[in-house]
Amino acid sequence: MSTLITNIGELVTNAPPAGPEPAGPEPGGPGPGGPEPGSMAGTRPGQPPGAGSFAAIADAALVIDGDQVGWTGSAGRAPAADEAVDAGGRAVLPGFVDSHAHLVFAGERGAEFAARMAGQPYQAGGIRTTVAATRNATDAQLLANLRSLAAELLAQGTTTFECKSGYGLTTVDEQRSVALAAEVTPEVTYLGAHVVPPEFEDNPAGYVELVCGAMLTACAPHARWVDVFCERGAFGPDAAAAILTAGAAAGLQPRVHANQLGPGPGVQVAVAAGAASADHCTYLSDADVDALASSGTVATLLPGVEFATRQPYPDARRLLAAGATVAIATDCNPGSCFTSSMALCVALAVREMRMTTEQAVWAATAGGARALRRTDVGHLGVGARADLVMLNAPSHTYLAYRPGVPLTVAVWRAGRLVAGRLPDMPPGQLGS
Ligand code: NIG
Ligand code: FE
Repeated sequence: MSTLITNIGELVTNAPPAGPEPAGPEPGGPGPGGPEPGSMAGTRPGQPPGAGSFAAIADAALVIDGDQVGWTGSAGRAPAADEAVDAGGRAVLPGFVDSHAHLVFAGERGAEFAARMAGQPYQAGGIRTTVAATRNATDAQLLANLRSLAAELLAQGTTTFECKSGYGLTTVDEQRSVALAAEVTPEVTYLGAHVVPPEFEDNPAGYVELVCGAMLTACAPHARWVDVFCERGAFGPDAAAAILTAGAAAGLQPRVHANQLGPGPGVQVAVAAGAASADHCTYLSDADVDALASSGTVATLLPGVEFATRQPYPDARRLLAAGATVAIATDCNPGSCFTSSMALCVALAVREMRMTTEQAVWAATAGGARALRRTDVGHLGVGARADLVMLNAPSHTYLAYRPGVPLTVAVWRAGRLVAGRLPDMPPGQLGS
């Protein structure tokens, strides 16, 4: 079964033009003012193939062949397919890749958010409130919340997402958290090292031992990743390194919550461990920026957290100028940031972190794929998984230009229409 989507105003591919036929001008190209050095994050040694630089085709078409992208190019050259969809001049992008989310939890912390907006600082200790609620919840309650959030992500165009444990913090509760997460995504992260739970308050070393021992053994079969919150008030550099090493020995690949609440050793721990990603990166020294730029560790920025905690936004251009690979993710969780909207994160990254619209969209798609070491998603090169989002807008720019507006028209995952509906607005009326 093949589907031709034609009359696409702008097709963001993040891939070089396919085939001998040049795919036309690349209006998205480097963008106004040209790229920052390294800003387009082309494939470098040590990085997987797959998505290259931001790239887009104007007046484009795409063929979905089964569950993959079969062809992309200018609409006038499109081959025939079993069925056709007229995009009416709308933009089509790779589905968003949200490489950082905490979706297994119970309860909510709206009052904590309101207190922050009234002047209280964000503190990692709030995590314990959610831990208590999560421990008290049944599997069915946790799964219902998880499924509802997963559907919320999909409806907004997120076709790949990572999901962490970290609100259980007992062997039983962490194990059920990763097992439940595995029901909604293959990108499951064991985060037993989120904070030291109250029952280990006087024995943090004993908790690290548990995280590296029985808890890890119980969780590893359900997870792909191991994560640690390396921060004052959570886990120090030695404990963090030990947890990542133990996780790696159990077959889990490392990623790190790093430099969120202040300057610290998180980024260096992540790079030394060969982590796929160092996440947050809110407070970076020059040495941290250099370490990220000269390693395969992606710098994952979470602008929704700065928005919801009133912390300063990191300057993405500093990382891009140094040559680091930058991803954007939501960090959707009930405490520091309860948004599931990658579109909002793109808008914040553009407005507050000084990314170009092209850089932000690349970071929210191909960058996320890099942070998850995935080569099949985050781009629309021939052979990629056919994960697409169609916007009710002529270009990707509208994600930042029209912040807060629900622009998602239709979402395909692995070639199947999974959210929204095919457009019925006649071509030519977009933006009117
Ligand atoms: O990524 N930093 C640690 N973990 C989450 C916060 C979780 C919470 O506040 O419940 C984060 O911001
Ligand atoms: Fe997080």
